[in-house]
Amino acid sequence: MRTPFVVGNWKLNKTISEALALVTELKNQLGAVKGVAVGVAPTFVALNSVAKRLEGSSIATCSQDCFWENTGAFTGEVSAPMLADAGATWAIVGHSERRQFFGDTNESVGKKARAALAGGLGAIVCVGEMLAERDAGRTLDVVDAQLAGGLDGIDGAVAAQRVVIAYEPVWAIGTGRTATPAQAQEVHAHIRKRLVEKFGQATAQAVRIQYGGSVKPSNAEALMAEADIDGALVGGASLEAADFVAIVKAARPG
Ligand code: PGA
Repeated sequence: MRTPFVVGNWKLNKTISEALALVTELKNQLGAVKGVAVGVAPTFVALNSVAKRLEGSSIATCSQDCFWENTGAFTGEVSAPMLADAGATWAIVGHSERRQFFGDTNESVGKKARAALAGGLGAIVCVGEMLAERDAGRTLDVVDAQLAGGLDGIDGAVAAQRVVIAYEPVWAIGTGRTATPAQAQEVHAHIRKRLVEKFGQATAQAVRIQYGGSVKPSNAEALMAEADIDGALVGGASLEAADFVAIVKAARPG
């Protein structure tokens, strides 16, 4: 049985004081929730304050990205060892907004994932097709290429422990238009099949596959009920404690 993992991706939101207010509420409200792992991904500048506030709780601090080199002349970047030092235990890599606006490619996402893992972090590797790709019937091909790049060079034993895949159809992100549970499950099952081919059955069954894209309290339960949906990567609805808490509770095994 996979423990569902629900992560709030705060994107470019929350000052340090706002981040601390939210995380304090989450710590209070989610302290007793069992059977689901929870994380939040603040901006880099709020990450250390959030991690300190979360000390003694089971809520993980995640970064929204991670550069592939550890140190050097890379202005503006943050590395895995620095993130770990600041209190992160997971890094999101390959989010569609990074791919769309900041030049991330399947190859660079793989480098970032390997760097995160080498630095002791878990890696949440994001994949997902754009609307035109879905309409052209290319969803599974796009996801295959993203998976191949994002998981390149990653060892099965490490993947079983510290790799999570997030399937986020780009047309569902921030649009209010969620994939139906059946649409999501179809792609999740396909991803699981690819994981079996790459890592073997045992590891593939251990890796969690999150769904992301307009997850809300009202749709979370139906999505989480699907066999291969193992939690959620939540954007907009993670910015309010009540909504995020409701989504986490919906992800508890029934
Ligand atoms: P959304 O974002 O929940 O606001 O659609 C999800 C994500 O981009 O991770």
